[in-house]
Amino acid sequence: MTDHAPLEHLRLQALWKSFGDVKAVRGIDLSVSRGEFLTLLGPSGCGKTTTLRMVAGFEPPTSGTILLHGKDITNEPPNSRPINTVFQHYALFPHLSVEENIAFGLRMRGVPATERQRQVTDALRAVALPGFERRHPRQLSGGQQQRVALARALVNRPEILLLDEPLGALDLKLRRQMQLELRALHREVGISFLYVTHDQEEALAMSDRVAVMNAGRIEQIGSPREIYEQPISRFVADFIGETNLLEGRVVRVDGTRVQVKLGPHILHALGEGCVTGTQVALSIRPERWTLTEGVRDADMNRFSGRVRESVYAGSVLRQVVELEGGITVVATRPGNLAGEPAGSAVTLTIIPSDVVVLPAGPPDPPA
Ligand SMILES: Nc1ncnc2c1ncn2[C@@H]1O[C@H](COP(=O)(O)OP(=O)(O)OP(=O)(O)O)[C@@H](O)[C@H]1O
Ligand SMILES: [Mg+2]
Repeated sequence: MTDHAPLEHLRLQALWKSFGDVKAVRGIDLSVSRGEFLTLLGPSGCGKTTTLRMVAGFEPPTSGTILLHGKDITNEPPNSRPINTVFQHYALFPHLSVEENIAFGLRMRGVPATERQRQVTDALRAVALPGFERRHPRQLSGGQQQRVALARALVNRPEILLLDEPLGALDLKLRRQMQLELRALHREVGISFLYVTHDQEEALAMSDRVAVMNAGRIEQIGSPREIYEQPISRFVADFIGETNLLEGRVVRVDGTRVQVKLGPHILHALGEGCVTGTQVALSIRPERWTLTEGVRDADMNRFSGRVRESVYAGSVLRQVVELEGGITVVATRPGNLAGEPAGSAVTLTIIPSDVVVLPAGPPDPPA
């Protein structure tokens, strides 16, 4: 993209969807910029597929509006929207060759044979499958079938590509490889991608922005770094990556510097809008702890504790440490470090900016 201002491409306004008593989508507001890779991330049943199906036109919203370049397309049928979808299960036609599968949409639109041929060849090159024209889906691996499904969507030159867990059926290694390929492909074709996954690692790895969904709503939207480093709720902090959630009471506020009492300890944190005397939750990522003896930074939080468990997990060593007052936290370190055995006395430190202050208690109950 050469545009400087992010141009709004797709906008969902106050989108609701009920199936009988089930409120699957509860007021989604979302704007996708042209050429953006935006991911809807959330647990099973939170309304991701339903949202995508409304954008595609397969499901009419109960209320709300869908705008494309500012034009209301809420009631347009699917085939008149410049939008294509790739699903988790490739849904290729088993009796058609790769070439015929990809050319299917072009044939429907009456594109002449030579032009079809050229576009199919281009699409196969884009998904790194040149030379596979004559194969049938059953002669392809899962990853290859999913690439054909992508090529079949791309060949229609949609403005927006919707992808619903397209890598969900693949094993971890292939999924990671395809994540990189999909990202590269996205950059190459310049199409807006609205991607759905319940895999937070995948969402962080691929997206320009991530919308974290919970029970039919978007709880937070931001860059992968923002939602990981500055979650705004317990739900987001807990759903994105691993975290230690601790409950405490604010005992001092000085600008953005906050002191929180946690059992017998005082934790220094940075936070906005904290009020002395209120309950808060603190989120601390396991990898942000330092287990050490010698750090002497007046600003640093320091705790004595005892290692309860040390679990080697390959890339990381996961250590469960019990602090005074019976507070247990998880700290991770690079897996190549030996780590102290269970029972060892250790000192844990954390800098205040790595302690995220969140509203206490569970999220608001659904309306
Ligand atoms: N056609 C339908 N009729 C009735 N309820 C539905 C229908 N489609 C979805 N739902 C319900 O709406 C809610 C949201 O479903 P949806 O498929 O959008 O979730 P999802 O976030 O895609 O989940 P998953 O990660 O499991 O795919 C669920 O409670 C689901 O049972
Ligand atoms: Mg789904």
